[in-house]
Amino acid sequence: MIEFKNVSFSYGPNPILKDVSFKVEEKQTLIILGGSGSGKTTILRLLLGLIEADSGTILLDGEDITQASHARMVEVRKKMGMVFQDGALFDSLTVGENVGYFLMEHGGHHTNEIEKKIREMLSLVGLEKTIDMMPAELSGGMRRRVATARSLIYRPEVMLYDEPTTGLDPATCENICDLINDVKKLGVSAIFVTHNLKDAFEVGDRFLLLRDGGVVWQGGIRELKAKPAGFLDDFFREKASSGGGR
Ligand SMILES: Nc1ncnc2c1ncn2[C@@H]1O[C@H](COP(=O)(O)OP(=O)(O)O)[C@@H](O)[C@H]1O
Ligand SMILES: [Mg+2]
Repeated sequence: MIEFKNVSFSYGPNPILKDVSFKVEEKQTLIILGGSGSGKTTILRLLLGLIEADSGTILLDGEDITQASHARMVEVRKKMGMVFQDGALFDSLTVGENVGYFLMEHGGHHTNEIEKKIREMLSLVGLEKTIDMMPAELSGGMRRRVATARSLIYRPEVMLYDEPTTGLDPATCENICDLINDVKKLGVSAIFVTHNLKDAFEVGDRFLLLRDGGVVWQGGIRELKAKPAGFLDDFFREKASSGGGR
């Protein structure tokens, strides 16, 4: 479904990603673990075509998106839904308008049809009662659920979550992980960036450990669980003492 082959990327003279390769199969969720500044968000930005790789290949559904035109990339991006850390909602629109925004933008649907879809998506994330509320009236966890509903309205093949539980209390994290697992059951592939190990184990099939833009380890959940105790602690500790991350 998604494949990075020997992808490198620099911001000016600063190498950010170094020869990164990984695969996400259909319906799988890949967890990217790594400290702040290790290049996690950069991977998502490359996949969305917001920045261009210096070298390497990025395949989505078998298509090399590093060769895609801007017009093609606009279409390709519609296969992907994205949830950011802060939920990134439009504060002056109601919850319902936020969820339906992209459909209204692109036109071609009757209002009743859009309304029906909005309600369907909100009920999927358990928030149908908030349809007429404003984002400011919602908790952090609810905002991220609304952002997920907004992304799902396109029926994306791939969901990208960039630290969706950071800054939330444990109960709300749990809630968001349940939602991500519900979305997974729809057959959507996903990349989930986090530094919360509990979240990672709850939703992950495969794991990519990133340090200073390089892949330190990758494998399936079973392989990770078979690693000696302290493997992940060491990974996070070395990252902290190497001075590479912030
Ligand atoms: N627009 C930019 N210009 C220059 N450097 C950037 C830019 N965006 C991110 N970086 C740098 O790229 C590195 C990786 O960033 P990022 O992928 O956002 O890390 P992460 O998401 O793992 O915290 C960091 O060192 C960051 O400072
Ligand atoms: Mg980031």
